Amino acid sequence: MQSLIATLTALCALLITLTSAQTFTSCNPLNRTDCPVDPALSTNTTLNLTSGNFPTALWNTTAGVVSQDYNGAHFVVNQRGDSPTIKSQFYIMFGTVSVIMKAAKGVGVISSIVLESDDLDEVDWEFLGGNSTSVQTNYFGKGDNTTYDRMKAEDVSDPQNNFHNYTTVWNAQQLEWWIDGSLKRTLKYEDAKNGTRYPQTPMTVKLGIWVAGDASTGNSNGTIEWAGGVTDYKQGPFTMTVQSVYVKDDGNGKEYQYGDTSGNWQSIKTIA
Ligand SMILES: *[C@@H]1O[C@H](CO)[C@@H](O)[C@H](O)[C@H]1NC(C)=O
Ligand SMILES: *[C@@H]1O[C@H](CO)[C@@H](O)[C@H](O)[C@H]1NC(C)=O
Ligand SMILES: *[C@@H]1O[C@H](CO)[C@@H](O)[C@H](O)[C@H]1NC(C)=O
Ligand SMILES: *[C@@H]1O[C@H](CO)[C@@H](O)[C@H](O)[C@H]1NC(C)=O
Ligand SMILES: *[C@@H]1O[C@H](CO)[C@@H](O)[C@H](O)[C@H]1NC(C)=O
Ligand SMILES: *[C@@H]1O[C@H](CO)[C@@H](O)[C@H](O)[C@H]1NC(C)=O
Ligand SMILES: *[C@@H]1O[C@H](CO)[C@@H](O)[C@H](O)[C@H]1NC(C)=O
Ligand SMILES: *[C@@H]1O[C@H](CO)[C@@H](O)[C@H](O)[C@H]1NC(C)=O
Ligand SMILES: *[C@@H]1O[C@H](CO)[C@@H](O)[C@H](O)[C@H]1NC(C)=O
Repeated sequence: MQSLIATLTALCALLITLTSAQTFTSCNPLNRTDCPVDPALSTNTTLNLTSGNFPTALWNTTAGVVSQDYNGAHFVVNQRGDSPTIKSQFYIMFGTVSVIMKAAKGVGVISSIVLESDDLDEVDWEFLGGNSTSVQTNYFGKGDNTTYDRMKAEDVSDPQNNFHNYTTVWNAQQLEWWIDGSLKRTLKYEDAKNGTRYPQTPMTVKLGIWVAGDASTGNSNGTIEWAGGVTDYKQGPFTMTVQSVYVKDDGNGKEYQYGDTSGNWQSIKTIA
């Protein structure tokens, strides 16, 4: 029995990781020229979580504990402060990400798939645990959270009870959000403030769950309202289950490096 279940403890749970326009990055290349280079995936990889091959060298648990069995990896909120998260150790510079998952139930509980770069470009899928008919798609360019027109909700059938395939296809021209093989949303480069707020720098992939419906962990009233209301932990545990994650890097070098402080895709160097 124990051999079926791999329980993974966090190496570092000092930071509570929040999705959506995080305002923290350890070295922002828009401001500095001495940031470390980003290791490139440079191929494709499938994290098959139903067949027991996690952890791998390519992924870290960055918060909490992720348990695993033949149904997949389970990201569980049992109590206040729980926010299990995994993150790729690699970056992709344009590419494809497909996640087969089931979101967590629970008002105010957010399940998420996040692509994020060092200068805070971001591409999101966010599932509100109290909403069984839609998923929110969103993006940020250079951490700019000053406009409110970036989120779009897309229909999906009962994402808390059904596994679906959420695929992001990302290149220099456009971003696409697909569900189960249907194209739901396209964002063109020029439609993000004429490209200046288009995600276009090397991204990591992050999967996790967190509670937005709780003022005591620092969420504003606006966040709680967005999340659908206050979370009742007594209704838990709240579990997001991920079967697999496929990631393909369109680049084929070893590392990505910001060539200047513009944050433009043309400035990103691929180091062979
Ligand atoms: C650059 O750093 C300055 C001062 O530390 C800060 O005010 C500014 O917001 C930073 N800009 C970016 C893009 O991070
Ligand atoms: C994934 O990479 C392998 C080599 O590692 C290659 O044979 C395969 O064609 C690639 N698949 C896709 C879908 O890119
Ligand atoms: C994951 O592994 C299982 C068992 O080996 C297999 O049935 C399934 O097709 C794999 N899924 C993916 C996405 O590779
Ligand atoms: C991820 O794990 C590797 C080795 O296991 C470690 O070197 C690295 O610091 C970890 N990164 C984070 C963000 O925890
Ligand atoms: C779910 O989200 C959609 C899109 O934002 C919205 O129209 C619908 O009213 C929401 N349902 C619930 C139960 O909040
Ligand atoms: C927006 O970003 C700024 C700094 O980049 C941050 O101070 C602020 O808290 C963010 N606002 C929200 C609503 O996330
Ligand atoms: C998920 O959907 C994408 C395209 O929408 C497709 O290419 C991929 O094969 C699907 N993945 C799985 C595991 O079915
Ligand atoms: C949009 O950007 C292009 C170059 O990328 C520039 O030629 C054009 O003038 C810009 N348009 C606006 C409305 O700023
Ligand atoms: C937030 O909501 C609580 C409960 O509804 C209320 O007591 C408080 O005044 C609100 N705070 C702000 C800043 O609006």
